[in-house]
Amino acid sequence: PAEDEAHVNEIKRLLHEQNAVLVAHYYTDDAIQQLAEETGGCVADSLEMARFGARHEASTLVVAGVRFMGETAKILSPEKRVLMPTLEATCSLDVGCPADEFSAFCDQHPDRTVVVYANTSAAVKARADWVVTSSIAVDVIEHLQARGEKILWAPDKHLGNYIQQKTGADMLLWDGACIVHEEFKAKGIEDLKALYPDAAVLVHPESPAPVVGLADVTGSTSQLIKAAKELPHDKLIVATDRGIFFKMQQAVPDKLLFEAPTAGNGATCKSCAHCPWMAMNALDNLAGALRYGSGEVFVDTELRTKALKPLERMLNFHS
Ligand code: 13P
Ligand code: SF4
Repeated sequence: PAEDEAHVNEIKRLLHEQNAVLVAHYYTDDAIQQLAEETGGCVADSLEMARFGARHEASTLVVAGVRFMGETAKILSPEKRVLMPTLEATCSLDVGCPADEFSAFCDQHPDRTVVVYANTSAAVKARADWVVTSSIAVDVIEHLQARGEKILWAPDKHLGNYIQQKTGADMLLWDGACIVHEEFKAKGIEDLKALYPDAAVLVHPESPAPVVGLADVTGSTSQLIKAAKELPHDKLIVATDRGIFFKMQQAVPDKLLFEAPTAGNGATCKSCAHCPWMAMNALDNLAGALRYGSGEVFVDTELRTKALKPLERMLNFHS
């Protein structure tokens, strides 16, 4: 539509004029992902978004994604202006792990190394020894386990359970979940596999254990796109937010991609494979953020200093 085109042109002009770069997650609208690519920004998983923003020389980072991604960018680059299309875009994992309750939980288990998922507030990160994303969570826990450390993990119980199964580490889990990935149903995937027995199954580890149990490959969004390219299969069943199909289909134009069913019996679901908070990012509020400087992310200085340590450990970690 003409209105979208006007927004796209305005965003391109303002990015240039304001020495700004657009950093987008795979779950945002196709148009936003395309814009990020066309303007020298990046479309990435949460670890790569953090790395890209921290290294880029632009003075403004425009982060299209959810709140924790903007906060992470600001913590890593306090000298940069960080804008988001909306500050309302949260995450069920972040909401389900309030800093005061989490801190009390940590106080009860002082013998455990605190490892938190990136999908948390700056205040929760400030209480952690390590931050990880799904792309390096297993490697980091293996490293800590080898040092004989016991882990307190938050907030995603499904990801925590997956890591625990994979590594055998001693992990105490917070009870949180992603409302999008929690909807995928093993039964629905099995039914689809019965129709397409030669299809491979790609699963994000925020999904429940029975779904992960059916996976040929489990990994972060970037890792799933990489797997789509590398696997010999020409049909892929994908259990993650449907936003990923834009880049995944570009990466494998000749392959047939299927959305993993969100309910085995056809029942309705809360979020049906699309994150409601990622969906709040649109061309109009993205243009608005650049036009008015709205949606600027600020992080309290004391919190920032504390949250920086576990985040830097994550960025400096090499398995
Ligand atoms: P990735 O790090 O795999 O991109 O995951 C982020 C996220 O929010 C998944 O729901
Ligand atoms: Fe959070 Fe799930 Fe949305 Fe990712 S998809 S931002 S984990 S609610």
